[in-house]
Amino acid sequence: MSAAGIVAAAGSGSRLGADRPKALVDLAGRPLVAWAVDTLLAGGVDEVVVAVPAAEHDQFAAALPSRVRLVEGGATRTASVRAALAAVGPGVDAVLVHDAARPLTPPDVVARVLAALAAGALAVVPVLPVVDTTVVVDAEGTVTAAPDRAALRRVQTPQGFSRVVLADGYAGLPLGAELTDDAAVVRASGIPVTTVAGDERAAKVTVPHDLRVAEMLAAR
Ligand code: C5P
Repeated sequence: MSAAGIVAAAGSGSRLGADRPKALVDLAGRPLVAWAVDTLLAGGVDEVVVAVPAAEHDQFAAALPSRVRLVEGGATRTASVRAALAAVGPGVDAVLVHDAARPLTPPDVVARVLAALAAGALAVVPVLPVVDTTVVVDAEGTVTAAPDRAALRRVQTPQGFSRVVLADGYAGLPLGAELTDDAAVVRASGIPVTTVAGDERAAKVTVPHDLRVAEMLAAR
């Protein structure tokens, strides 16, 4: 099975308050995007396509190995993944979509996703249990439901797909659609999404606190 990795790295990172796109923010001497690309390659993908902001193309190119292909990202994560998917090379059977914002994801997570795809799964997401009680609120902030947390999971990346299934899912998605999760794209077309164990180290860097935690972990 030949697998390609897509890294969504075209976000601005405004919630991090950085002076550059989040994927270029430094973690222990290297930009977040370089960590994410290394994880995919170390975990077993054969090629990597990274969606980047057009204005910073050269900075991304300088930060990444020359074998990595760069494409111009879009205004939303969904548009960025769509652009990268179109650039995946021929002969690829499986595609893993990863966030640049999850720099410390261990390669083992990538390997688990690849193994599930090799065993026949069409769509695979790494997940973790939900440890806090999680509630639904209305517009006023009043709790309207409290789902049983035993049945809830936090979804991480990389998410893995049969290439054909992911391409069909994106082809069927309206152009302006905005989803935070690629598995939702294929689940909407009736494809079952299976799960493998995620890892706390695959946490997403979104706000300054997340970066401080990542810096402490990277220093170990
Ligand atoms: O904003 P958030 O942290 O949820 O973004 C998740 C990932 O999607 C990040 O790695 C970000 O760079 C990427 N993204 C993108 N194109 C956008 C917005 C976000 O590739 N337009």
